[in-house]
Amino acid sequence: MQLHEKIPNNVNLSQDKRLLRALEKWQPDYLKWWHEAGPTNFQANEIYLRTAISVDSKGWAHFDYVKMPDYKWGIFLTPPEHDRRIGFGDFLGKAAWQEVPGEFRNALRRIIVTQGDTEPASVEQQRLLCNTAPSMYDCRNLFQVNVEEGRHLWAMVYLLHAYFGRDGREEAEDLLERRSGDADKPRILSTFNEPIADWLSFFMFTMFTDRDGKYQLLALAESGFDPLARTTRFMLTEEAHHMFVGETGVGRVVKRACDLMKKDPNEDVRNQGGIDLDTVQKYVNHWYSSSLDLFGGEISTNAADYFASGLKGREHEGQFTDHVALHATYRIPVIDDGRLTERDVPMRNAMNEVLRDAYIDDNQRGVDRWNRMIAEAGVNYTITLPSRRFNRTMGIYTGYHFNPAGEQISAGEWERRKHEWLPNEADRIYVKSLMLPVLELGKMANWIAAPERGVKGQPIDFEYIRLV
Ligand SMILES: [Fe+2]
Ligand SMILES: [Fe+2]
Repeated sequence: MQLHEKIPNNVNLSQDKRLLRALEKWQPDYLKWWHEAGPTNFQANEIYLRTAISVDSKGWAHFDYVKMPDYKWGIFLTPPEHDRRIGFGDFLGKAAWQEVPGEFRNALRRIIVTQGDTEPASVEQQRLLCNTAPSMYDCRNLFQVNVEEGRHLWAMVYLLHAYFGRDGREEAEDLLERRSGDADKPRILSTFNEPIADWLSFFMFTMFTDRDGKYQLLALAESGFDPLARTTRFMLTEEAHHMFVGETGVGRVVKRACDLMKKDPNEDVRNQGGIDLDTVQKYVNHWYSSSLDLFGGEISTNAADYFASGLKGREHEGQFTDHVALHATYRIPVIDDGRLTERDVPMRNAMNEVLRDAYIDDNQRGVDRWNRMIAEAGVNYTITLPSRRFNRTMGIYTGYHFNPAGEQISAGEWERRKHEWLPNEADRIYVKSLMLPVLELGKMANWIAAPERGVKGQPIDFEYIRLV
């Protein structure tokens, strides 16, 4: 471990002068990007943050006060596995690649750039939120997510610099050039160009969109290109916290809604200054459906090619018995002649859908926990995940209309009813009106319950941000 270095790492950077020079040249550009596109405030404040310092499962992180621009963005890969073999596809059982296989160079670079692009994009989307944090605890969590997304960018840039030569370096520069929502140079994926204007959206994003990230990383953690597998395995340890922020964040909004319902003679949560469960449901519908798009087409030759060539597997490939998947099929509801029907497609072409299935189950577990809280509060309400066909703008359901139950409806009915299901202008304005900063120690905004516990054993009223 080389922690004292300018770029902390466990990849022996000091032994590779060319790579070190390239990364040291990229570093000031990265910091310039951070100042331009990172959080708009608190850059000079000391924040109680977690920093990755090793890949040891017991003690990989260190907590201390640090100013964000001084954060130690390091490069960490899980240790190499002795004699690792490719676990799926046409190269099943062959030695994992330690260098980029020439024939898959472009595909691999594309995968890494697409993943890498989401990391700075989310920091850009969230840059204004620090001005309206509902508590110091939450503001600190936002910054934790932001600096770790920055480290994830470093992780992908390391792969580009170390394994892709000159075009890798150019891609690394471009990753700092694109900007979320920019008309000329947008980020690659559309979900990452939507601004995150309020904290309810932030919690939805970290619940649903970061979880897409988790599943993409799980699929890449199986990659036959060993450096990619080892990089993404370590990124997953940080990703877990982002989804914790999302799930508990929404959970606290839900809990507060239940409390406020009981306080109000008409059970009117908005009358009490909170976010009502119907609004929560609409935000769920929006962010969940938008995140489902990120998995790509239901029937995909790209997905089939990535699987065949051993670049991108299924999450926890070891749980499957057939790692070649050449003869199996997968039944998918498709639109045929304008009507919903089912078709068996070759399993390899359905790999995006297989990954989406696992993602949906994982989300459902979180939603179940919210519903248990609602039931425990004695409130009669169930939050549901809409059908995977609802509100899609990518894949085979695009251009057709479905209600949250997944039943096909006409364009007219969609237009009439979409604002029952998705946040409308008034909902957004209302939620935004609640976004006023609360930074007093231990205090929470009225619309959110306190967390159950603080960070790393600290109390909830701990000074997570030194304001002076
Ligand atoms: Fe990330
Ligand atoms: Fe994340």
